[in-house]
Amino acid sequence: MTSPDQPTGLIPTLPGRTYTDRETFTSEQERIFESLWFCALRGAELPSPGDFRTVQVGRESVLVSRGRDGALNAFLNVCRHRGARLCVEETGSVKRSFQCPYHAWTYGLDGKLVAAPNLASMPGLDRTAYGLNRVHLREWLGYAWVCLAADPPSFSDTVIAPVAERLGGTEVIEGYEVGDLEIGRRITYDVKANWKLIIENFMECYHCATIHPELTEVLPEFADGYAAQYYVGHGAEFGDEIAGFTVDGSAGFGKLDNVGEAHDRRYYAITVRPQVFVNLVPDHVIFHRMYPLAVDRTVVECDWLYSKDVVASGKDVSRSVELFHRVNQQDFDACERCQPAMSSRAYAEGGVLMPSEHHIGEFHEWVQKMLS
Ligand code: FES
Ligand code: FE
Repeated sequence: MTSPDQPTGLIPTLPGRTYTDRETFTSEQERIFESLWFCALRGAELPSPGDFRTVQVGRESVLVSRGRDGALNAFLNVCRHRGARLCVEETGSVKRSFQCPYHAWTYGLDGKLVAAPNLASMPGLDRTAYGLNRVHLREWLGYAWVCLAADPPSFSDTVIAPVAERLGGTEVIEGYEVGDLEIGRRITYDVKANWKLIIENFMECYHCATIHPELTEVLPEFADGYAAQYYVGHGAEFGDEIAGFTVDGSAGFGKLDNVGEAHDRRYYAITVRPQVFVNLVPDHVIFHRMYPLAVDRTVVECDWLYSKDVVASGKDVSRSVELFHRVNQQDFDACERCQPAMSSRAYAEGGVLMPSEHHIGEFHEWVQKMLS
């Protein structure tokens, strides 16, 4: 395929220190991850009241739990007495309250302070003022998105609109009914690389021919190196001999019921800043979330989502999982190869983008704008 509207001038990358400098990372935590909507977890992970998971969002630990009314709530995972971390486990379930392991202050599933030892000795304490600090939460596509900002940006402008822009409207994603799919497989990758390297990698396909032999077999146009995901409405077409989005090109599970014919045999990739990548194929959806934990460490959690029928039937999903699992490993190996070199004097001024990678330049401008 040809590539429209590619700039011809040289576009420099960010300098190497922005991938290694702790102060830069702290600014990114504050201005990006603690300011925008952050995709925390899949709602189905917490099926029952009292189920909880803690998630690192920027510099904060956030406690997401299901309340008695069935709705999800998010709180800062910090006891209001003297600041102990309330839940130390990453996941779990409580019966009806969270009890601080330090002096046993106890909070209801709605975050209210419900009990504390010797509370009667402190009649001046207004219990309603010492509940857990609530964090904004929205659910979309079956995921809980949280925002630590006091006044969150518009969810539709910052989360839904980028998906709609990429697909030429929201109808396409609605057809995949992502919220109704079930997790067929989850793989968590602990990547020794700065989060920006992972986004940059996802945004370009110049590397596809070199490092993704299985993917370019299934999607031959990726071998040309154009970032097909950035043409509005364009989905990369499966090769003629390819029956399904699987590691060997063998048949998958048949397209999801409401995916239109025009999207059968096509692959769409979407980036939702700052930490989500979505891949749509006819019979499943691959949904990545990044959790940047340190300037040089990012955990990536990847869900392979299938129809309820496929998951309930116990059908073997391993051939479709294996394709993108290999892609993930190949991509993360490449990111880990770049990370140590970010502190080299050879990269002090950064590198240069190919015209087909110019979207990365827009991402860099966005990062700089967010930090300025
Ligand atoms: Fe939690 Fe004291 S710090 S009860
Ligand atoms: Fe890749």
